[in-house]
This record gives sequence, structure tokens and C-alpha cells, in this order.
Amino acid sequence: MHAKASKALALSQLFMLAEATLKPRLPDGLGLTPHMGWSSWNTGQCDAASEQYALDAANQFVELGLKDLGYEYVNIDDCWSTTARDESGNLVPDPAKWPNGIPAVIDQIHELGLKFGLYGCAGEMTCASFPGSWGHEEQDAQLLASWGVDFWKHDACFTPCTTSPNPQTCWDGSIDTKPWYGTMRDALQGVADTKAILFNICQWGRNEVWTWGADYGHSWRIESDNWGDWDSVIRIGAHAGDLAQYGGPGGFNDLDMLFVGNGVLTEAQERLHFGLWAIAKSPLVIGTDLTTIGESSLNILKNKDIIDINQDELGIPAGYFQPSNADAPVAGQLYPYWAGELSNGTVVAFAAAAGANTYSVSFADVPGLEAGTYNWKELYSGEEGSGEELSFDVAQDDIAIFRVTPA
Ligand code: GAL
Repeated sequence: MHAKASKALALSQLFMLAEATLKPRLPDGLGLTPHMGWSSWNTGQCDAASEQYALDAANQFVELGLKDLGYEYVNIDDCWSTTARDESGNLVPDPAKWPNGIPAVIDQIHELGLKFGLYGCAGEMTCASFPGSWGHEEQDAQLLASWGVDFWKHDACFTPCTTSPNPQTCWDGSIDTKPWYGTMRDALQGVADTKAILFNICQWGRNEVWTWGADYGHSWRIESDNWGDWDSVIRIGAHAGDLAQYGGPGGFNDLDMLFVGNGVLTEAQERLHFGLWAIAKSPLVIGTDLTTIGESSLNILKNKDIIDINQDELGIPAGYFQPSNADAPVAGQLYPYWAGELSNGTVVAFAAAAGANTYSVSFADVPGLEAGTYNWKELYSGEEGSGEELSFDVAQDDIAIFRVTPA
């Protein structure tokens, strides 16, 4: 693309960003920055949906200094309930996993100054075949509020479908998932006076959810699962690069739970994974056992400079931009060049999924910046510099993330 055209595109993107940021979101005022926490799912799937895991995670938040950095939600995903509702139609915590019941665990977590989240499903069953909320939305919202639940993730398995051969994830491309999320949103808003509950939409990016999710929930998954491999990080990250304009305070693109500390990615890949999620203003939800996490992974999750970018009050996601000397992005590949506005500067990142390289951009090419001299700090290495352009060596699969301020 010609330099001028690329700059014009960047400016129009900025206007769209501003518009998205000012768009009315849910009236409860929750989720003004992406939520941060831990979830049982990537940690140990069904086995981790228990009291023990929840309390361990909460205690580790305090112990490891994660709470002080903003990690707050301890979220239990699928498989926490029994396989049937009780005679009143209420969901029942599995007594083997919750020997003291869920409210007692929530009290302990609240006493630590933390929050507790649960998972459910828009369909008749959850993805792992536990009872779903279909037809029980108001009843479930009342139960959650009575327990003091702070967060609800609403999945999309076993919903009505006519043509798909797979009832678990049934999808023929034409189903409108919006009404399912509207019903649960209204049920949760109906109990908001008793208990404000952060609402996470999980329908894997169907119906271009990013274009309407902000009116329905506080965050929405943009893709199918992060399966914990490098391909997932590339697939989800590459998609997020194009969706920056849709996130803003009160409603964020959810790139899915993290796989940092699970022994599947290299250290460089974990840096890129966490860094991209953070600058794209995704919720940052740890998905590993915090009682055994390794030091280098923990250090990545505890990078305060990068967390500060994720939690910046403007809530503007970084997205792709094309420098005048670079080729255009290719669909499905992770483009190296990212930028986004911050309340006190600009974030610029070089993501080296395509190979080790010396990446260079002139600040004049960065959306929102004029030609001129800027100071920069790279937030993983701490390296600092100043100049009219930014040039940095990035190793294969690694990322460099800069906070840029006028000199
Ligand atoms: C999937 C969802 C995952 C996890 C899982 C539980 O549909 O995308 O994040 O919640 O269900 O069964």
C-alpha cells in the first residue's frame, strides 16, 4: 500500500476507535477495563472445577503478588454441577467437588478481596453435558445472585439447531445466536440490584459478535478455543488484529483464556501470547495451576508495564497498522505491526511469528503519531531509546512491546 493511503487508513481507523469507545455499553458500568483472573478450564478441564482448585488459585493470587497486579476473578468453568437440576429446577454444585457448597467458597474468596465466577450455557446442556440454562435463565440468574457470584460465562453448546449433524456445537451458519444472549443478559440485569455480574459471551465468534456484543455483555469470544498450541495463538491473534475497533470500556474482544505456564509454548511464544492478548485489550485469564507454575511463565504474567497497557483507562485495543515500507497483512497469518492509543502515550509492538527480524518503523507511520522524536521503552527487556524511528531485533516467535511517548 502507498504510504499516504496507509496513513489515511490509519486515521480513519482512529476515528472508528473513538466512535466505538463512546458507544453506549451496558448500563451497569461493569468491565470498564478487561477483566483479569484465573480459570479452571485450561488448568485441568473438568477435574479443576472444584473448591480445592478455586481456593488454591485465590490463595496463590495473594501469595504470588498477582492480586496486587490486578488479577481478581477466580473462575470455575464447565463441570461444576451435578448432571441434573434439583426438584425446584435449581442447578446443584457437585458435592464431591464442593464439599462445603459454593456460597461458603465464595465468602472465603470475597474475604481475600477477590471475585468468583461460574460457567453455564445458553443451550440445554453445557459442552461437557451438564445442565444448561435454556428456559431457566431467570431462575439461574437469581441463584447466582443469591450465592454472590461475580462473573458468568455463557457458552453455546446444545442450542436448538435443525440441520447440523452435531448437536453439541450445532451450527449451520444461519442461526442467530443474539436472542440467547439477550435472554441471559436481561436475566442478569434483572438481578443487578442484588448482585452485579460480569457477563462473558462465549459463542466462538459467530454472527460477527464483535459488532453487537457490547450491547449484550462485557466481553465476547472472537474465535473458537485456544487449544493451547502455537497455531491457536496465531489464529486468534491474527483475527484480533482486525477487530481492534470493536473493543472499548464496558465491552471487549475476548481472545480466550491464556496458555502461559502449561509447558506447551516456548518462553518466546509465551511472551508473544501474553503480550498480544494484553495489548489487544483481551481479558487476561490465567489457565494454569498456580501452585506449580514455573518462574519464567510467572514473570511473564506479572509484567506490570504490560498489564498497565491492558488496563489503560482508554480501553482502546491495539490492532494492525501497515508501515509504508512493509507488505500488507495476509489473512490467517500473524502480521508483525501493531499499535494503539494509550491515555499516556502509544503502544507499538513487533510480533515475530514469521521469523527473527530487525523490525523498523518511522513514527510518522504509526496511527495517531506525527513525524518527530519520541522516547520508547521495550516492556519485556526494559530497554529504552529515543529517535524518529523505532528499530528493534526480535527473535523467532517473540514479541517486542513499546510504550512510546513524545520526547
Ligand atoms: C467450550 C468453550 C471453552 C470451555 C468448554 C467447556 O465451548 O469454548 O472455553 O468453556 O466449552 O466445556
